[in-house]
Amino acid sequence: MSGLLAGKRLLVTGIITDQSIAFSVAKIAQEEGAEVVLTGFGRLSLVERIAKRLPKEAPVIELDVTNSEQLASLPEKVREHVDGLDGVVHSIGYAPPSCLGGGFLDAPWEDVATAVHVSTYSYKSLAVACLPLLSRGAGIVGLTFDATLAWPVYDWMGVAKAGLESANRYLALHLGKQGIRANLVSAGPLRTMAAKSIPGFEQFEDAWTERAPLGWSLTDQEPAAKAVLALLSDWFPATTGEIVHVDGGYHAIGASPAA
Ligand SMILES: NC(=O)c1ccc[n+]([C@@H]2O[C@H](COP(=O)([O-])OP(=O)(O)OC[C@H]3O[C@@H](n4cnc5c(N)ncnc54)[C@H](O)[C@@H]3O)[C@@H](O)[C@H]2O)c1
Repeated sequence: MSGLLAGKRLLVTGIITDQSIAFSVAKIAQEEGAEVVLTGFGRLSLVERIAKRLPKEAPVIELDVTNSEQLASLPEKVREHVDGLDGVVHSIGYAPPSCLGGGFLDAPWEDVATAVHVSTYSYKSLAVACLPLLSRGAGIVGLTFDATLAWPVYDWMGVAKAGLESANRYLALHLGKQGIRANLVSAGPLRTMAAKSIPGFEQFEDAWTERAPLGWSLTDQEPAAKAVLALLSDWFPATTGEIVHVDGGYHAIGASPAA
């Protein structure tokens, strides 16, 4: 098999629909020669149905990233399909409704704790769970939404993403000796299930359409997916703790260009 990822074994979390960023990651990974194992959360039969739409049907392992038993048994379950992993994709995020849409000042700690557990701490949990399967040169990639600024309506999810961006640097620090890389892709807004659950998400859509110097498609997951896979390929051997923006250039521009 030829391709950028020929012979690589990847674990891809986060497929819930065929709009999921993780779906594009799994699809392009297979097209580039990788062997893909998926994890699914909650509605497993739905994830299995979506997995059938991939170029090659991929096995699905149940994983709630907040469930320590499921995390502990992950290596054994992955080994039923592949003998190790070259890459792990964390494409997971969730915040209870109180944490989004302008509720920053009122969201209770229990809800904020859930957002941080699922969206931030789980990046570390997933990496550590997969460690027995990883060797030198392997990589972990997660997805963020630029957390250097406060965004109207993103609220505690923004705080969780800021934590994720910091956790990425700490993961790079702690896994570096083992030759394992940790990187994030900072994607622009994409119409996925997670995005649709954010009240006022259209504000991001309008801002990006107006400002991104390269333009931005709200329905094209491929650019973000390709960056995830490039980071897991052999072409970023000395890159870790990094955040690659795949946002049409939005983050670099201070104001909307003149019409
Ligand atoms: N869509 C966007 O605009 C956008 C932009 C930048 C970053 N991101 C990030 O991309 C990642 C993927 O999101 P998406 O946009 O593809 O949406 P999505 O809704 O398709 O994917 C989110 C996934 O998180 C999973 N998940 C939620 N709780 C979980 C748990 N406890 N255990 C395991 N999995 C759990 C869901 O099952 C789902 O598959 C998220 O980290 C998201 O924050 C999205």
